[in-house]
Amino acid sequence: MTPPDPFGELFGDASVPHEALRRQAFNLRWATQPADVIPLTAADPDFPVAPAVREAIARQARQGLFCYGPAEGLPAFRDACSRFSEERRHCPARPEQVLAVDSAAAGMRQVCAHLLRPGDEAIIFDPVDFLFQAAVEAAGGRVRRLPVDALSGELALDQLESLVTPRTRLLGICNPLNPVGRVLRQEELERLASLALRHHLVILNDEVWADIVYPPHRFQSVAALGPELAARCWTVHGFSKNYGLAGLRVGCVVTPDAAACAALAHSSLASTTMSGVSTLSQIAAVAALQEADDWLAAWLQHLRRQRDLAVAELGTMPGTRVRAPEGTYVLFPQVDHRGLEPEALTARLLERQRLAVVPGSPRWFGPGAQGHLRLVFSTSEAILREGLSRLQRGLEELAEDSG
Ligand SMILES: Cc1ncc(COP(=O)(O)O)c(C=O)c1O
Repeated sequence: MTPPDPFGELFGDASVPHEALRRQAFNLRWATQPADVIPLTAADPDFPVAPAVREAIARQARQGLFCYGPAEGLPAFRDACSRFSEERRHCPARPEQVLAVDSAAAGMRQVCAHLLRPGDEAIIFDPVDFLFQAAVEAAGGRVRRLPVDALSGELALDQLESLVTPRTRLLGICNPLNPVGRVLRQEELERLASLALRHHLVILNDEVWADIVYPPHRFQSVAALGPELAARCWTVHGFSKNYGLAGLRVGCVVTPDAAACAALAHSSLASTTMSGVSTLSQIAAVAALQEADDWLAAWLQHLRRQRDLAVAELGTMPGTRVRAPEGTYVLFPQVDHRGLEPEALTARLLERQRLAVVPGSPRWFGPGAQGHLRLVFSTSEAILREGLSRLQRGLEELAEDSG
């Protein structure tokens, strides 16, 4: 007999709090769209977070104390992240190596600001989430892009060496890779690692998606390839994709050693109290890491069903090719744009079908996103089905109109 699934109802259609999302879900989502639009845009779940996280926040709120925390993060938070790094990512890291940051995105910016000087170059993937370019450029750096096949997710590793110049300082690794959904292979990580070692590059290692990986694929961290690599890695973890805590603004950076962590805390002004992470958010993150394993497993089960549904539906749409993501909850189908610019296609889908998706434009992902669009499936089955049927109608209509 199959045991009852205690979390099954958590991700059902009835669990999507529509009214609250319309008021509270920003960043291209429900609160920023007209009422009849379905947003499959920013990667942010449509469901309430794990009960253990809600309880931890409520407990702390009842106690009523909201004192200053330590600049680098609460001891309980740094301990929990250190254990998480060792146990889940197989990257041993002492608590003194962990800096609390107010989101993975902020961690990326702080690491780049700390390590790069104006004019320095960083090698990043293409396509990849816009935050890589934004973080490098905010520090005065310039990006050079390693092509990635936007459908298969394969990296053009033979071009890697040609991207290195005397100004190259940093290698940005996004694993699993948003938007193509690839989980990097051991051989790929070894080739990237070898480049970093030969050219003395630091690695901005973004693992914000690493809990969202579908079997048989398995996540492997570049920082786990050996102590030489760990000494070059500044690894960014987040709580938004795995546990849905984007609005709590919390993440962490695992730095090469305690001195590097103190230097990063200093350069990001955490030690002056001009930056830092809400202690309530850190308490919520600790509860997520320590008490929400079952919830995360159920979330992954739901996502896997959603992924399979979306891949099957997209496979039947005109002019569309798609590969199932190995990790993440984004899809990046190649879509015949019939001569339209990426933004023109998504504007048309919004206007005529009332569906919001992210265009495959350089602004969001780099020039390599050309011909694709991105949609998320971190919602309920009913919303996803409706979103996909709107996409299908939109693409059929476009095919008819362009003869
Ligand atoms: C690859 C990647 N890195 C970083 C982030 C930022 O995560 P957070 O919202 O936790 O700052 C995102 C969010 O979409 C992402 O996709």
